[in-house]
Amino acid sequence: MRVLVIGGGGREHAIVDACARKGHEVLCTPGNPGIAALARLLPSPQDADSLAELAVQEGVDVVIVGPEAYLAAGVVDACMGRGVPAFGPTRAASRLEGDKAWSKAFMTRHGIPTAQHRAFTGLAEALAHAATCPLPTVIKDAGLRAGKGVTIAHTHAEAEAALHDIFTQSGASVVVEDFMTGQEVTVLALTDGERYALTPPSQDHKTIFEGDIGPMTGGMGVICPFPLPADALAVIQSDIIERTLAGMRAEGLPYTGVLYAGLMLTPTGPKVVEFNARFGDPEAEAVLPLLESDLAQHALDAARGQLDPVSVRFRAGASAVIILAAPGYPAEPQKGIPITLPPTGAGEIIYHAGTALQEGKLVSSGGRVLAVTATADTLNAALGRAYALADRVAFAGAQLRRDIGARIGAFPEKQTESDPV
Ligand SMILES: Nc1ncnc2c1ncn2[C@@H]1O[C@H](COP(=O)(O)OP(=O)(O)O)[C@@H](O)[C@H]1O
Ligand SMILES: [Mg+2]
Repeated sequence: MRVLVIGGGGREHAIVDACARKGHEVLCTPGNPGIAALARLLPSPQDADSLAELAVQEGVDVVIVGPEAYLAAGVVDACMGRGVPAFGPTRAASRLEGDKAWSKAFMTRHGIPTAQHRAFTGLAEALAHAATCPLPTVIKDAGLRAGKGVTIAHTHAEAEAALHDIFTQSGASVVVEDFMTGQEVTVLALTDGERYALTPPSQDHKTIFEGDIGPMTGGMGVICPFPLPADALAVIQSDIIERTLAGMRAEGLPYTGVLYAGLMLTPTGPKVVEFNARFGDPEAEAVLPLLESDLAQHALDAARGQLDPVSVRFRAGASAVIILAAPGYPAEPQKGIPITLPPTGAGEIIYHAGTALQEGKLVSSGGRVLAVTATADTLNAALGRAYALADRVAFAGAQLRRDIGARIGAFPEKQTESDPV
């Protein structure tokens, strides 16, 4: 079939790769230099109606939407309105990600486990409440802030500063919630609104520095599968995924696409940190290389309300993603740094997240620049191969974390010359 993928980061590179390796013809807008090797890039205005028109003109069989902003802008509604199947939630259903205050209230209405919270639309009340919260406390801008709207406040002064910041920058509304402890894990559900299939669980590493310290980033590395205990998985399915899909149906907002559950495995069970309305980035770069079945077919089936969960199959084995970020990231990433990529072997792929071509040469153009991925039979072997591959990339000043997987005791297995590539 002919598939149109919308977006241009590492996640979209992984989506395009998953479709292309099944022999589909892939179009992508706006795409990036890595995606250009696998798909026909289409220059296009990026508003919902233009994108839907593009899908019609190109006669595509299914549209797969990567980034959240397009969902919030109503791309899926615009496609569906023109009779083009699109994989992703409608604008109204994407509120599950786009409005954290609404999302928390939804979880409360449907008994979905999450941190206790209060939502505020006025600075004065929010400040008064935060002053009484036990520390640390978590302050969240309710709107889409590209991973930059959350502060874990260790002092009341920090909480106050975060609140002032949110109300001067975006002003809309804020969520103040209890701090949860435990391992963080991502579970993705591919769904047609009713039926669903889970991907293997994965774990991102969100801070810039090793040891989980420093500023939050979009994600610095992923391991997959995360070893989720069976009892936790059962709770996640019944109390989180199924209650969410049923709740969305009950509220007249049937949810189609990828339901991303960001979870904390707390001492009292799994709880929702947040929902996202699409594949995670960089989780997609870890999960999709393990997908054995046909993503484009699942997307089409789900968009038509006919997902066959049994047909969604992942290979045994593991994957690891190491993010190479630009110097200065996350505050001020340096752009225009030349990059030379090494050759890759089977089970190795370097996804482009923030690259551009300058006079025919590959350069950095964003914060997270490359997602270096390897798959192998074991997680330790996947980590070893991913780090070895990352070390062969020529990219001056690149930042990477050497402790991806360390939280669960995984470590990069030494690569030797004689290892098969
Ligand atoms: N209640 C909480 N307790 C502990 N850590 C949290 C809590 N809420 C968020 N975090 C941390 O902050 C990160 C970002 O928060 P999240 O709600 O996912 O917002 P976003 O991804 O939109 O920035 C999470 O991945 C998690 O590491
Ligand atoms: Mg998040």
